[in-house]
Amino acid sequence: MRPAKLILDGKEYEFPVMVGTEDEVAIDIRKLREMTGAITYDPGYVNTGSCKSEITFIDGEKGVLRYRGYPIEELAGKLIYSAAAYLVIYGHLPNKMEFKEWRRDLTMNSFLHEHLRKFFDHYPITAHPMNILASMIASMSSFYPEEVDDPNDIDRHIKRIVGQVKTIAAYSYKQFIGKPCIYPRSDHSWSANFLRMMFGTPAEEYQVPKVMEDALDLILILHMDHEQNCSTSTVRMVGSSQSDLYASVASGINALWGRLHGGANEAVLNMLQRIHKDGGNYKKYVDMAKEKGSRFRLMGFGHRVYKNFDPRAKILRGTVVQLLKELGSNDSLLEIAMGLEEVVLKDDFFIERKLYPNVDFYSGIAYRAMGIPTDMFTVLFAMGRMPGWIAHWLEGARTASNASIGLVRSIPDPAFDTSKESTQYSISIVVPQGRPSREGGNPANPERLPVWSWIPAFGNFQKLWTAWTRWTKWTLRKKTAIQNAPHGAIRPQDDIE
Ligand SMILES: CC(C)(COP(=O)(O)OP(=O)(O)OC[C@H]1O[C@@H](n2cnc3c(N)ncnc32)[C@H](O)[C@@H]1OP(=O)(O)O)[C@@H](O)C(=O)NCCC(=O)NCCS
Repeated sequence: MRPAKLILDGKEYEFPVMVGTEDEVAIDIRKLREMTGAITYDPGYVNTGSCKSEITFIDGEKGVLRYRGYPIEELAGKLIYSAAAYLVIYGHLPNKMEFKEWRRDLTMNSFLHEHLRKFFDHYPITAHPMNILASMIASMSSFYPEEVDDPNDIDRHIKRIVGQVKTIAAYSYKQFIGKPCIYPRSDHSWSANFLRMMFGTPAEEYQVPKVMEDALDLILILHMDHEQNCSTSTVRMVGSSQSDLYASVASGINALWGRLHGGANEAVLNMLQRIHKDGGNYKKYVDMAKEKGSRFRLMGFGHRVYKNFDPRAKILRGTVVQLLKELGSNDSLLEIAMGLEEVVLKDDFFIERKLYPNVDFYSGIAYRAMGIPTDMFTVLFAMGRMPGWIAHWLEGARTASNASIGLVRSIPDPAFDTSKESTQYSISIVVPQGRPSREGGNPANPERLPVWSWIPAFGNFQKLWTAWTRWTKWTLRKKTAIQNAPHGAIRPQDDIE
């Protein structure tokens, strides 16, 4: 394809054009600033390609989703979670030997470090399981600090994260309900282990219903990757600074936690609950969503990328129907959900606007039918997305062609004068950048050198003064705490800092 031309301030520039494997076109503007002095303005980065990627392909218009070249229809419902995770992370389907080893390694790595496990005792009952998951995963790098930077050990980190993410998730639920945690077993699949840890007790063996295990495998695979969304881009951005895998994926979990990202299936359940409390008349809510000027939207309908249908929702619908049939679910929320779906699919307002039930609609219903608490929905999303984040971290941070630290720019807001000089408070607020030189003056900031910093002895005196005031404050606080403490609560030798 011929280069793209840009005319800026009367001058013409040419930029190469890239064509992807599926004929997507991108203008390569890597030299834009160097050549023109200008940058692009693209809040939300919706027109920006940040990397070349071999992991996932989406065509929203045609309803196509592929992982590593395989259509989602050939993976979901045909593979189990661990096999799909291997494909997404390593780029190829495992052979028999590879799979056997990978599965075993995941189970052997699914136990938490015993000291890490004790962290659960200290989260308040109010802690959201997403927050627990993010903090626990981030904490893992403290437990394996000697290895985090060694590329040869990356495989071990990957297995630990994929193995333990479900353990942490299940334990956070058990912690919340105050029941004992149980350990994973090597004769269970990844998904079966998660369900067993969620619903089993140490008193008797829990038989994981096959229909639930299969449904969970399918849902997690459907969520495994989705190109450069908010959380995935976050993982890549954090990883681009060579942050370790634990820190990078923990950032992804935090990004996913936001209401506009991973919280949609939770929102579906909240909406169903609202309809239920209001008497169950879902048709009233359909009318409300259609009203001109109404801000109310039916949660779980429509998609920003998929404009004809969401291929994931299409696959999941069948599983949800089967799940409800086999589990014999007798739940009024689920009845409302299925009634709502039926009405919406026939309604012209929704048909014209291409508002179909999305994957969050069906996954919300499926989780509800399985007995997963609403608070845990986003955690399950994170469990599904984990292999995708890892694959992007590997591709972004470890592939030579992609390995450069992320940096985006901002445009100074014309409404704000960024060039104001602070003169009035310069002596009290400006910290000298670097040591004053012997010749006088600060090389980093010669204009703003505070007068007193020219006297060498003054600097030492200041340090002594700070140390002395800190020590006196600390002693005073300690004394007050001992005096105010209930009898025996704090002993004089306790460190209260
Ligand atoms: C996902 C979503 C943000 C996509 O938005 P979008 O593609 O930008 O669509 P728009 O916001 O431009 O809406 C287009 C039209 O459809 C309507 N619409 C979109 N989603 C709707 C919904 N869920 N319920 C009712 N009306 C909806 C809008 O009101 C608008 O109507 P108008 O043309 O009469 O003004 C949007 O469909 C939505 O909010 N869905 C509900 C939340 C949800 O399920 N999110 C999870 C997505 S995976």
